[in-house]
Amino acid sequence: MSMMMMKLQFCLALLLTTFSCVAFALRANEQNQQEAFLSCLQKKNSKDNTISTIIHTPKNTSFKSVLDVYIQNTQFLSPETPKPIAILTPETESHIQTAIYCGKKYGLEMRIRSGGHDFEGNSYISQVPFFILDMSNFSVSPQTGKPTALVIFAGVYRGGVDEFLAIMDERFPELGITKKDCNVIRWIQYIPFHMAQPYENPKEFYTSRVPPFVYAFSGKSDFLTEPIPEEGVEKILNKISELPPFSAQMEWTCFGGGIMEKIPESETPFPHRKASIMLFEMANWTPNPDDGSSSDVAEARKKWVKELHDIVGDYVEKNPRASYPNYRDYDLGINNANGETTIEQAKKWGIPYFKDNFDRLVKVKNKVDPENFFRNEQSFPVLPAHSEL
Ligand SMILES: *[C@@H]1O[C@H](CO)[C@@H](O)[C@H](O)[C@H]1NC(C)=O
Ligand SMILES: *[C@@H]1O[C@H](CO)[C@@H](O)[C@H](O)[C@H]1NC(C)=O
Repeated sequence: MSMMMMKLQFCLALLLTTFSCVAFALRANEQNQQEAFLSCLQKKNSKDNTISTIIHTPKNTSFKSVLDVYIQNTQFLSPETPKPIAILTPETESHIQTAIYCGKKYGLEMRIRSGGHDFEGNSYISQVPFFILDMSNFSVSPQTGKPTALVIFAGVYRGGVDEFLAIMDERFPELGITKKDCNVIRWIQYIPFHMAQPYENPKEFYTSRVPPFVYAFSGKSDFLTEPIPEEGVEKILNKISELPPFSAQMEWTCFGGGIMEKIPESETPFPHRKASIMLFEMANWTPNPDDGSSSDVAEARKKWVKELHDIVGDYVEKNPRASYPNYRDYDLGINNANGETTIEQAKKWGIPYFKDNFDRLVKVKNKVDPENFFRNEQSFPVLPAHSEL
C-alpha cells in the first residue's frame, strides 16, 4: 500500500472519529452531572432494579435511534443540535418519580418528549444540560411488583336513565354513577357494546355472521352462590397479574335471581338457576402465524387457566362443581371414541353441566336415540341393552 493511501485512510478515520465526537460529546461538567444523575437513578431504584433497561445514554447503541425516532423536524437531526445526557423511557410511575427526583438534585433540565407539533424541538433540545423523558412506553394496567387488574363494570338497564340512576343511588351509592357514565342506546346496540365494539355500527354489523375479531383462547366456567372473600379475590388477582396485560380475563356475569330462579331446576335441562354469578376464566394467545399450530405459549396458557381454575375452585359451587354446558370443557372428561361410554364416565362432565337433570336426560336419550346416532365427545351415553339407570 502506498504511503499516500495510508495517509488518506488515516485522515478518513480521524474525520469519522471527530464526527462522532461532535455528535455525542459531553463537556466535562456535563460528564460529572451525568455520572451523578445515573448513579442517583440506580440508587433510588435499587429495590426492583428495573431502571437500567430504560436508560439510554450516548454510549448505548440505542441512543441515536430512540432520540431520532420522534424528531419530525429534520433540521434538528444534525450533530450540532444539543443532545441530552440521557433519554429515559419510563414504564412505571416510580421510574418517573425517580427521574424527577434525581434530575432536580443534580440541576438537570427535564424535557418531556412530544410529537409532530414540536416545531422548535422544544421537547428534546435544551441549551443547558438536560435529559429527555420519553413516555411512549409508559402505561398506567401494570406497576412492577404490584399485582393489578383492570376492572370493568359493564351493565345494561332496560329502562330510562333517570330510573336507573335512582336505583344506583340507592343500592350502590359508593360507585357515584352519574348521567355522564351512561349511554342511552337501543336494546340491540347492547350486542356490540358488550363486545367492546362501536355501537354506531352500520346495519351490516348486526346481520353479519362473521365475528368482528377472533383469537386463540382456553376457558373454563364456574357458578358462584356465595360471595368470594377478599382473600380469594386477592389470590385471583395475583394469578391474573402473572400474565401480560390483556392476556388473562375473568368475566363475572350476574346470573340468577328474578324469573331465572322462579323456574324449578328440574323444569328444563339447564339447572344452574340459583347461582348469583357465572364466572368465566380465560387466557388468550397469538397462534403460530405460519400454521396456526399450538406452541409452547399455547400449552403454557392452557396450564395457567387450569391453575386459575384450581384457585377459583375453593370459592365456587362444589360437590359437585358446576360448569356452564354452553362453554364446553373437555378437561371434565369425554366419551370413548370407540365403544361404549359408561354412565359413571359420562357423569364426570354430565353432573357439572346438568346436575340432577343428568339421569332424566340419559333416559330421554335412550328413548329417542338408542342407536346413538347423535353422538359427540360429550353426548349422553346409551345404556347397555336391558339395563336401567
Ligand atoms: C445502556 O448501557 C448500560 C451499560 O452497559 C446498560 O446497563 C443499559 O441497560 C443500557 N440501556 C439499554 C436501554 O439497553
Ligand atoms: C418500548 O418497548 C418496546 C417493547 O419492549 C421496545 O421494543 C422499544 O424499544 C421501547 N421503546 C423505547 C423508546 O424504549
